[in-house]
Amino acid sequence: MTWLFQFWRSSIGGKVIMAITGFLLFGFVIAHLLGNLQLLSGPDKINAYAKMLHDLGPLLWVARIGLLAIFVLHVATGIRLSRANKAARPVPYAREATLQATFASRSMVLTGLSLLAFIVYHLLHFTLGVTNPEHYARKAAGAGGHDVYAMVTTSFSNPAIVAAYVVFQVVLFFHLKHGIQSLAQTLGLSHRRFMAMIQKLSFLLAAVLAGGNAILALSVLFGIVKAAQ
Ligand code: HEM
Repeated sequence: MTWLFQFWRSSIGGKVIMAITGFLLFGFVIAHLLGNLQLLSGPDKINAYAKMLHDLGPLLWVARIGLLAIFVLHVATGIRLSRANKAARPVPYAREATLQATFASRSMVLTGLSLLAFIVYHLLHFTLGVTNPEHYARKAAGAGGHDVYAMVTTSFSNPAIVAAYVVFQVVLFFHLKHGIQSLAQTLGLSHRRFMAMIQKLSFLLAAVLAGGNAILALSVLFGIVKAAQ
């Protein structure tokens, strides 16, 4: 166990852990968006999908606890690496490239912590039904307690909630864009030959994922996806 802790404490170990956990979380964001896109096919599809997930029973809990562990490790390692970076160089370099790197990594901590706040809100909203119990009640009232379509569409009929989701998708965009670039760097792909391609690819992937989530919320608000009666 000590060697594992020492690996986590080392600078290279920290980067490897950030890359692996970041990659897994990236996979979750893709899978979650693909699942949510079923909103566009109407209530039956997304409700059947939610029921299928809930019917996994204990397996769903294993996945949830695994996701939480990956998330906690990602946040804790990110904060530790950023502190170590700051401690190693209390006075920043004068060269512009390094200043840009410092800004990027500082903004990662900021966008990361903002996403943490979003996820806490999101769980209180959709998974635990604390922030808007009236939305959550619509889910429970559906057949077998799985009317996720009614819960999500009632929520996104509220402009303030949609505005909050859209703002957090902008934050998600910046976090993913830089995260994908960092992952490429850890994998040794930071050669000048690849840089332009990695920058374009990270922009595109982050825009599709964050934009996809934002478009879903806006589609309900503007009546493209019909709100449940
Ligand atoms: C328009 C965008 C989104 C919609 C409509 C949406 C919808 C939902 C719904 C309905 C649930 C609860 C599922 C249930 O209990 O049956 C959920 C859970 C969750 N969402 Fe989202 N989500 C969105 C964006 C995001 C984003 C951007 C993230 C993370 C970056 C995220 C992370 C999570 C997590 C971690 C859970 C908990 C999973 C679980 O309870 O098993 N969601 N989401």
